[in-house]
Amino acid sequence: VILSFLFLCQRLAESAEDADLYHEFNASLQFDYYNSMLINTVDEDGNNVELGGEFPLEENEHFNNLPVNTQQSNIQIPTNVYNKDPNILNAIYNSEALNDVFIRNFQKDPTLTWQYFGSSTGFFRLYPGIKWTPDSNGVAAFDCRNRNWYIQAATSPKDIVIMVDISGSMKGLKITIAKHTINTILDTLGENDFVNVIAYTDYVRYVEPCFKGTLVQADLDNREVGTLSASRRLKEANGQGSMCNQAIMLITDGAMEDFESIFEEFNWPERRVRVFTYLIGREMTFAQNTKWIACNNKGYYTHISTLADVQENVMEYLHVLSRPMVINHEHDIIWTEAYMDTVVSLSLKFLSHGILLGVVGSDVPLMEVMKLAPRYVLGPHGYAFLLTNNGYILAHPDLRPLVSSASFLQV
Ligand SMILES: *[C@@H]1O[C@H](CO)[C@@H](O)[C@H](O)[C@H]1NC(C)=O
Repeated sequence: VILSFLFLCQRLAESAEDADLYHEFNASLQFDYYNSMLINTVDEDGNNVELGGEFPLEENEHFNNLPVNTQQSNIQIPTNVYNKDPNILNAIYNSEALNDVFIRNFQKDPTLTWQYFGSSTGFFRLYPGIKWTPDSNGVAAFDCRNRNWYIQAATSPKDIVIMVDISGSMKGLKITIAKHTINTILDTLGENDFVNVIAYTDYVRYVEPCFKGTLVQADLDNREVGTLSASRRLKEANGQGSMCNQAIMLITDGAMEDFESIFEEFNWPERRVRVFTYLIGREMTFAQNTKWIACNNKGYYTHISTLADVQENVMEYLHVLSRPMVINHEHDIIWTEAYMDTVVSLSLKFLSHGILLGVVGSDVPLMEVMKLAPRYVLGPHGYAFLLTNNGYILAHPDLRPLVSSASFLQV
């Protein structure tokens, strides 16, 4: 499974990157695709609805007895993303080539289960194709860009400090948008990331006193504590965080000043800590400073005036953090926990001209992973563990803490 996945990834990455390289963006592109929410749906006159053509489905034991189409992948788009947006249409068109790769992979290795591509534009191509079941309120909230496998493959581990302005002018809708922005940022964090939230007005206050002065791991428990807590300045986060990507997210309705002297002291000239600024609300009075802060600290400035803008604007920061320091063709394979404890996801990102196109992944049943570390290799007291950041399985025979006796099985 895993070897074929590597092969799959190479092929997927190559074909997706090539397709993007040679395709010119066409703003008026007309293109029909199978939308997994709309397939097999007819209007009152009995005609197929747009993007909802006939899509044969057949129950399949290998895919949890779900009705699937093993001849074709199809496309899911979150309800809040316009399904005929030119960016989406062009990217879906480009990813059509993956269809054949998915099918060939499955033919070559019938133990493979789900294969998928999450696009940075927001659509999710899933093989085999299925009929997407809406949530209880009739919408598809699922956004592949929020999933662990996507985020962890797209970016390296992150240390994030969220600074939220709670001064007098931040009230009503603005504070609602600010809270939603914080939650959306937290949703983009995985177990490898460290986070803290600082509320500030004229004095700094820690939102969650338990975590005072430290970065805490963004695992589910800590994220559930709600909007977390405070932090030491990232510059002082010595070994406490992930130390890879460091960023400050500044959420405000307008920065009164540009804090140049502070950045000069703590972040320049290296600018190791990126600063992303989110200007909340309709007023643009202090937009200039807010923009300046982001632009002078390798970050990104966005203006969020309504609740509906939050999701897309927050996602922008992932594009910046996903850019490799040096542009090359190396793809890192990332293991992430999946939706069940019997399955792990294997995923990798791909890029075009250094821009994140998306993440391709496949689910791997743990049973298949365990076959790579059979008992006879491990010995009576041996054990194996999966190194999630690089796709190695480390087998450690006999509980002996000797480096020389550990054998690495590259997967
Ligand atoms: C763009 O798409 C439209 C509609 O699909 C097509 O008619 C047109 O030829 C395309 N333009 C280019 C430059 O490919």
